[in-house]
Amino acid sequence: MIASVQRDAAIGVFDSGVGGLTVLRALRAHLPHESFVYLGDTARLPYGTKSRHTVTRYARQAAQVLVDRGVKLLVIACNTASAVALPDLPDHIGAMPLVGVVEPGAAAACQASGHGRIAVIGTESTIRGGAYERAIARRRPDARVVGRACPLFVALAEEGWCDGPIAEAVAERYLGDLRPRPGDPEGIDCLVLGCTHFPVLRSALARVMGPEVTLVDSAETTAHAVAQILEQEGLAAPAGAVGGTTLLATDGPERFARVGAGFLGLELRPDAVQLVDL
Ligand code: DGL
Repeated sequence: MIASVQRDAAIGVFDSGVGGLTVLRALRAHLPHESFVYLGDTARLPYGTKSRHTVTRYARQAAQVLVDRGVKLLVIACNTASAVALPDLPDHIGAMPLVGVVEPGAAAACQASGHGRIAVIGTESTIRGGAYERAIARRRPDARVVGRACPLFVALAEEGWCDGPIAEAVAERYLGDLRPRPGDPEGIDCLVLGCTHFPVLRSALARVMGPEVTLVDSAETTAHAVAQILEQEGLAAPAGAVGGTTLLATDGPERFARVGAGFLGLELRPDAVQLVDL
């Protein structure tokens, strides 16, 4: 009885804002029978420029809202919160399965990179903490990893300036020196989009980095990791279940719906977004 109640429960997903909707999009596609509750802490975005202490506090509060709603598994769909706060969250939420996006992103990079020359881009906090370097080194000790903070990409993505000359100029400024020379065996061969806002900038980034660089993000591998845990723990929704999605934000449902639609790949109405207080 308890098991069936748990299987019917939703999966909780949180991010500092709308970026995590790129992860929710992959989760919905891979797990159509599951229901999701997504929380975007839009009132306090960005997390990426804030201290470890503050991001950990925010992440705990966001997780608590979802735990209180009875979710069966928690996905931290924010690289900054995954990199900074994930190690401390189990103490706070107990034994609930917890999936961050850094480990799946590192796994995707190790798989995609031919000769282990990997660049990771993310927020200041994600890059400063070195979580991706450690996660990649555990899987591929031979890999050489360079991290670069690209905070302006968050604003570009939120503004919807995802492609075109402005996005490319900013990408060139941040990343031009990492573009490999053709045939250079020491050149970067994989770029990890280590921020959930960045997948919407993929085309501009691909043009700047050139054809020898494979771009990877965490969304797909996170969805696979979640599917695996649901199976292992006996928590997968029954096959006939029809999934649904509840959207929560801590500020601005209208903006969440407008900007978030591009990240989720679905039209969103402001009245479909519930305002919550942490
Ligand atoms: N979603 C955040 C991340 O993946 C980026 C935005 C922020 O700085 O809060 O790191």
